[in-house]
Amino acid sequence: MPHLLHIQSSPRPQRSASIEVAQAFIEGWRARHPQASIDTLDVWTTPLPEFDGEALGAKYAALEGNPRSPAQVQVWANIEALGQRFHRADVVVISVPMWNFGIPYRLKHMIDAVSQKDVLFTFDERGLLGLLGGRKAVVVAARGVALGENFPAAEFDHQTSYLTMWARMVGITEVHTVSVEKTLFGPEADTASRAQAKAEAASLAASI
Ligand SMILES: Cc1cc2nc3c(=O)[nH]c(=O)nc-3n(C[C@H](O)[C@H](O)[C@H](O)COP(=O)(O)O)c2cc1C
Repeated sequence: MPHLLHIQSSPRPQRSASIEVAQAFIEGWRARHPQASIDTLDVWTTPLPEFDGEALGAKYAALEGNPRSPAQVQVWANIEALGQRFHRADVVVISVPMWNFGIPYRLKHMIDAVSQKDVLFTFDERGLLGLLGGRKAVVVAARGVALGENFPAAEFDHQTSYLTMWARMVGITEVHTVSVEKTLFGPEADTASRAQAKAEAASLAASI
């Protein structure tokens, strides 16, 4: 049974452009996979494991072949449980607002917590190997402005470029992007941009 993981990272879901456009993709995808299951992970309401000294201790204990303390065992179990939500998915949808030309810190927190050796990738003398191979990712990126003339993507896009790199790092090579821009240019531009992006998302859902 196909399974989709939707990672939401806008803290205002009712008004969010990224979530609205991601929902258009998900509805189209679900229509093609009526038996599918969907897991929604809202990074603002999901308790995320802190990646603090305890977690670092757990990481390096394993790397150095030392036993973990009970607290370290617990923190690592939480990290692995988060990782399992990715492993269960055939398609990972990330809806993401642009914040300061990058991504919201809570999404970065989730990525830093879950991107661990033997959870989402392995690493040895042959190099880095992502463990999520064969899956597809869809990044739905919302922005107040438009990338391009005033904000060349090569300099200003630390949103989709970062998430595409991260997907590759964990083994996902098929990454699709849908952008919804100019959400801060007034209601008309916002509505038009959402409509265009939703059409694009629906057509992507029909093709993957
Ligand atoms: C803290 C913060 C920082 C932002 N930084 C940018 C930015 O650097 N570039 C941009 O185009 N829009 C920026 N915006 C505008 C959002 O990207 C825009 O409102 C977008 O629609 C948010 O996505 P959402 O509607 O899914 O929440 C920022 C908004 C906030 C709240």
